[in-house]
Amino acid sequence: MLTPSRDNPRLQALLLQLPAGLRQHIERVREKALELAKLHGVDTVKAEVAALAHDLARGMEEDELLRRARAYGLTLHPVEEVVTFLLHGPVGAEMLQRECGIEDDEVLEAVRWHTTFNRGMGPVAKVVFLADKLEPHKVQVYPLLEGVVSLAREDMDAALLTLLQEEIISMIRLGRLIHPASLEGRNELLASQKDSRR
Ligand SMILES: [Fe+2]
Ligand SMILES: [Fe+2]
Repeated sequence: MLTPSRDNPRLQALLLQLPAGLRQHIERVREKALELAKLHGVDTVKAEVAALAHDLARGMEEDELLRRARAYGLTLHPVEEVVTFLLHGPVGAEMLQRECGIEDDEVLEAVRWHTTFNRGMGPVAKVVFLADKLEPHKVQVYPLLEGVVSLAREDMDAALLTLLQEEIISMIRLGRLIHPASLEGRNELLASQKDSRR
């Protein structure tokens, strides 16, 4: 089993094949993930590797994502069959494991669930989900995120809950499908927040 490392040659080779704009986004996510990991005492090596790998499959066409998901034997949720783009996390995690030899569960779950989030996520997955949504370019495009950027420095769970709730509300308004993993993640965060207030 390979220890996760940003210098993994196979990972670096896969990253080099990605379009320039996507590589720039990944670099911003890497920096944000390192910042959050340091602030919250999360393993910086795992956070960095997961951030680098999170969008390995983001550049793939929909039919390629579906083809790979089936070839890897992934069980597709009906929402993923319609919103195929959601598969880039699970397919990316499979690539990281199968092609780069990275077996670390925390890194793999961070890549797998970086788009929808899920319940039971560990600190590395929380850092990567937040870093992906709060990297500077996205905050520039959506200035309302600035408040969540500060919140994420103080309390990752509170920032995650805010982001997930906003996203779920906006998906409902837009009449879009919601992946149940996002709801499960949101419910878990909400319940633990209420528990800690008791
Ligand atoms: Fe992504
Ligand atoms: Fe991303």
